[in-house]
Amino acid sequence: MEIKRFGVSIEENLLEALDRFVRGHRFPNRSQAIRYLIRNNLIEKKWKENKDVAGCIVLVYDHHKRELLNKSIDIQHEYQNLVLSVQHVHLDHHNCLETIALFGKAKKLKELADKLIGLKGIKHGRLVTSGT
Ligand code: NI
Repeated sequence: MEIKRFGVSIEENLLEALDRFVRGHRFPNRSQAIRYLIRNNLIEKKWKENKDVAGCIVLVYDHHKRELLNKSIDIQHEYQNLVLSVQHVHLDHHNCLETIALFGKAKKLKELADKLIGLKGIKHGRLVTSGT
């Protein structure tokens, strides 16, 4: 895509805040930071408007709780049209980390995340919201 340049008028304190943001996130320059902020905003809007979005559910749980595993798999099958991949990593003797990559309607992704994160035995869970 063609790159356009434009000038921006902005209050000094906002520019300082932008530069702190650039440094804090180690962006190479202001342009990259502004691209990030715009895309982030557009993706947030897609989530609010129930558009097609991408996401990832991260779950940490004790794998000795077998009924939790069965329930989690049943729920994932209910939503199999959303699930792109599942990665299971053994963190230590007790704990497993699962990452479930998703694509589909925002509401459905949230619904699936709530069902999985709310399962008895889940130690920590989070939905990472993203998109294109
Ligand atoms: Ni494991």
